Amino acid sequence: MARGRLNSGNTQGEELPKAKLNRQTLTHISRLLSYIRPYRGKFAAALVFLFLSSLVGLAFPSFLGALIDAAQGKHTNKLLPASIQGIGLLALIVLFSQAFVSFFRILWFVQVAERSLADIRRDTYFKLITLPMNFFSNRRVGELNSRISADLSQIQDTLTTTIAEMIRQLVLLFGGVAFLAIVSIKLTLALLVVLPVLVVVAVFFGRFIRKLSRKAQDKLAESNTIVEETLQGIANVKAFVNESFEAGRYSKNIREVANIAINGAKYRGMFASFIVFGMFGAIVTVIAYGCILVSHNELTVGELFKFALYAVFVGSAMGSFPELYANVQKAVGASERVLEILAEKSEDVSINEINNKIEQKIKGDIAFDDVHFYYPSRPEIEVLKGVSFEANTGQKIAIVGPSGSGKSTMAALILQFYHPQSGAILFDSRRSSDYSLTDIRNQVAIVPQDVMLFGGTIRENIAYGKLTATKEEIIIAAQRANADQFITSFPEGYETIVGERGVKLSGGQRQRVAIARALLKNPSILILDEATSSLDSESERLVQEALEELMKNRTSIIIAHRLSTIREADKIIVLEKGTVIESGNHEELLGNEKGLYRYLSQLQFEV
Ligand SMILES: Nc1ncnc2c1ncn2[C@@H]1O[C@H](COP(=O)(O)OP(=O)(O)OP(=O)(O)O)[C@@H](O)[C@H]1O
Ligand SMILES: [Mg+2]
Repeated sequence: MARGRLNSGNTQGEELPKAKLNRQTLTHISRLLSYIRPYRGKFAAALVFLFLSSLVGLAFPSFLGALIDAAQGKHTNKLLPASIQGIGLLALIVLFSQAFVSFFRILWFVQVAERSLADIRRDTYFKLITLPMNFFSNRRVGELNSRISADLSQIQDTLTTTIAEMIRQLVLLFGGVAFLAIVSIKLTLALLVVLPVLVVVAVFFGRFIRKLSRKAQDKLAESNTIVEETLQGIANVKAFVNESFEAGRYSKNIREVANIAINGAKYRGMFASFIVFGMFGAIVTVIAYGCILVSHNELTVGELFKFALYAVFVGSAMGSFPELYANVQKAVGASERVLEILAEKSEDVSINEINNKIEQKIKGDIAFDDVHFYYPSRPEIEVLKGVSFEANTGQKIAIVGPSGSGKSTMAALILQFYHPQSGAILFDSRRSSDYSLTDIRNQVAIVPQDVMLFGGTIRENIAYGKLTATKEEIIIAAQRANADQFITSFPEGYETIVGERGVKLSGGQRQRVAIARALLKNPSILILDEATSSLDSESERLVQEALEELMKNRTSIIIAHRLSTIREADKIIVLEKGTVIESGNHEELLGNEKGLYRYLSQLQFEV
């Protein structure tokens, strides 16, 4: 049974790259093993039981050999009783204790592994969500996801089965050889000459085959990416009538997978022939030699039988090491990748309590002082080139400008997702670094350009702005955001599930949910990143009303695409290619004959 699990774990983890074992990787693994420390008592007990059960397992060939000899009236093993009944009874007792010990060692190993894995998973997930935004721009979500699933499963497999199996096989190997030597030194020597050669050849052959199957699996993973991407963007595929293009891309990939796998099968077949001929040939040879010894009365039949069983033990132990070793290597590789995440530096957010206690209040003044910024993932492109502006508490500041000019980037900087390379962002005339990250983010709310809702209920999605909100608070926020009406029109009202497996909300509805969320949060500074997609005039009115409600009594930064929405703004900042080229209120900017604002608003109002 243990081998069955081992194999299944192996195929699943096959695609994981292995790591070389050296001192450094061993320190890595030992750091991961520190997660076992809280459960070390049970782990030690499991190890002892494992050792015991393997040792007891070694006794069985002796029992069987003694039984056969007893049947022929011989008493070769002086440690065991002479009669068949005596040996049988003793074997039963040993068998029973073996069963008892095995049960607990499996239970305990799994308990220790599962609990420590849960701890590692928790820490890794927690680490992931507290890492700075920049970390995520360099990696794919799928890759990070596989660290938590595939990599940790590999480690889990190693903890639950590989380590145990390795210890068991070691006991069987050394114990087996010792018992073999007791039976017959001559036979043992004969065996030890033949066996290692066969095992080494088998191992190299096996490794070669595994490499081929890894290649097939990589290719398969590649084709899975095609499936994933096209299914996620199925609307795009259909809209561009690219079904046959994707189908062609996929089938080309799949054909390659098949070719590699078939090529691998040739070697697999050769391997099987080798095993049949080589391994069984060796066993037959050794046993034939044993039979000669029996005929010369140097050995009893029982002893030969016993010998054959021990030889099987030793052979299979030798054969199992490479696979076990490969599993350990994979686990080391996996743990390196997991540790890499654990070693990353988290953002400095206080996370021990959910409550949003604010240490340093921000009134609502905000200023950019000569902010230069590029995304760390793309240092050659400076997105903001010396942006400065000021907003006083309660003001409405609008940022307009062409697509890609850096408006959403400014929002990201205010939220401290990234930090400017030079210049400063000031809250109430103090540098952002004087505040804790949690304080800033707790007092700034954003209604983003593309609102993302979680897969729960509408109520949960609104409450994301304030986890402790009561039902009444949520309803009031929804009413103020003009969202209550459409929410109550659903049969399940606030308990309507949104997202993948529930109702899909329209753009305007999603925005109003986001506005309700922001209202609930009640921030001193509000950022509105207006959606570029235009709403029909009725939903636009509803959203606009909701926004007016939301902007009351706080500093608002409105990133606007429809200039009609910002006529009332206290100040309009016109951004182009990362530089502020104009600023002033609506009238002032219209007065500038050659200004971009005047040009843009003429374009919009002409339509
Ligand atoms: N995470 C990122 N990593 C690297 N570059 C980015 C990232 N996000 C945006 N950019 C780049 O920064 C520039 C400014 O992007 P930004 O999203 O701020 O534009 P925007 O003014 O909000 O445009 P829009 O009006 O279309 O929303 C763009 O050239 C964009 O390609
Ligand atoms: Mg934007």
